[in-house]
Amino acid sequence: MVVVANRLPFDLEKLPDGSTKARQAPGGLVTALAPILSRRHGAWIGWPGSADVELEPTTTDGLSLFPLPLSAEEVANFYEGFSNDTLWPLYHDAVADSQFHRQWWDSYRKVNQRFAESAAEVAAPGATVWVHDYQLQLVPQLLRRLRPDVRIGFFLHIPFPPVELFMRLPWRKQIVTGLLGADLIGFQLPGGARNFTRLARSLLGSTTSGGIIEHDGRKVRAAAFPISIDAAEQSALAATPEVHRASRELRADLGNPKKVVLGIDRLDYTKGIDVRLQAFGELLAEEDPSVQDAVMVQIATPSRERLGSYQRMRESIERTVGKINGDYGRIGHPPIHYLHQSLPREELAAFYAAADVMAVTPFRDGMNLVAKEYVACRVDGGGVLVLSEFTGAAKELRSSLLVNPYDLDGVKEGFRQALTMSSVEARRRMRSLRRHVLTHDVDRWATAFLSALEGTRDHVADAMTR
Ligand code: ADP
Ligand code: G6P
Repeated sequence: MVVVANRLPFDLEKLPDGSTKARQAPGGLVTALAPILSRRHGAWIGWPGSADVELEPTTTDGLSLFPLPLSAEEVANFYEGFSNDTLWPLYHDAVADSQFHRQWWDSYRKVNQRFAESAAEVAAPGATVWVHDYQLQLVPQLLRRLRPDVRIGFFLHIPFPPVELFMRLPWRKQIVTGLLGADLIGFQLPGGARNFTRLARSLLGSTTSGGIIEHDGRKVRAAAFPISIDAAEQSALAATPEVHRASRELRADLGNPKKVVLGIDRLDYTKGIDVRLQAFGELLAEEDPSVQDAVMVQIATPSRERLGSYQRMRESIERTVGKINGDYGRIGHPPIHYLHQSLPREELAAFYAAADVMAVTPFRDGMNLVAKEYVACRVDGGGVLVLSEFTGAAKELRSSLLVNPYDLDGVKEGFRQALTMSSVEARRRMRSLRRHVLTHDVDRWATAFLSALEGTRDHVADAMTR
């Protein structure tokens, strides 16, 4: 199997002595795919994370890595531009404005062509090629032209937008046609698959029935496959004595407060970090009993830092943290601890284990793996998850406290309930959450997707004999 994704699982950097430094790449796509691909000994084609880095293919952790270089111009136009300033906001309910520029689209097309060519070179005859995410939506069609013998799956990790929003895209037909090069197109939620099927009908006049779209003499299936994490591994990590000790030390470092509220995200304007800070700040201002002796910890991974929308969100978050700490802190006791850093998994697990309340409040999120990681880490059966209803995870994690991030009073009420919930009630909810997360892991997701892809074989064979 060959995986094609914009990012490799590691950011690779060439050091002056010629050696290569590797660190885990940010984001949920890598968290989910890395363990399943290592186990299946697959190949992975992706960008090593910085401009103009040219590296030879290597093998690590059972994975064959094929680095695909991007020039500084491609990083600006394809990655920061079209992928993250046109598609990302548009696909996330337009929570920020999308920019439409023809030269960005040009670059998107060209880089997608390079990814397709690289996949065509790496894939063995009759191989399965699994293309991932919004950065590479043209690859299925381009690859099919080059290699009609391979089976092509595509999975979109982010939401697929409502038809009305998608229709704004000047290149809407090309994107839909690009995706239809696949045999199977996977979405996080059934709503995404339905939106896509409607578009294929209205934009291209395709005949559709029950998630099957007829296109170019072939049958393409669109369906939902909600992604997950390596839950057993995450749970085992949280159960180690080292993580246990680290989580006790963390609470002590925070001054052994009665309650710890935690947020962990990439610093992204879709994540609603600003909303949760504001809600916590208002509860402090009102001297609400629930936040007496409560501390909030927000850990935000640096992300897409050259984009104005990300810079503005960072400034706003840091201003809010400073204001709340200035207004309500005491020396040695800030109510909010904020780190703009990427931390090792073991440390994140210790934070999850130490948090009484996990705040996950995105305005829109395809899935949100942080919510599932929190649940997997609660081997003690405690902890309360406050979860935005606009995440994919909210469709599965029904025993969390669901909130609407646009409703500040609702988020405050969610925090209040979480902070004052009896431990019997919290444990009852966490038991049900854990049952779900531990039985719906990333292996189950991959197996469901790949066997559905395998099931499309007949359609492919049909089309080829026609
Ligand atoms: P997204 O893919 O949009 O970033 P997800 O919640 O699905 O959102 O996945 C985020 C992944 O990044 C999770 O696996 C989480 O553990 C990891 N992560 C988030 N914040 C940090 C951080 N500060 N340091 C290291 N990893 C992080
Ligand atoms: C989300 C996207 C991924 C992306 C990740 C990190 O998870 O779905 O495709 O890789 O964020 O973003 P970045 O821009 O740093 O790759």
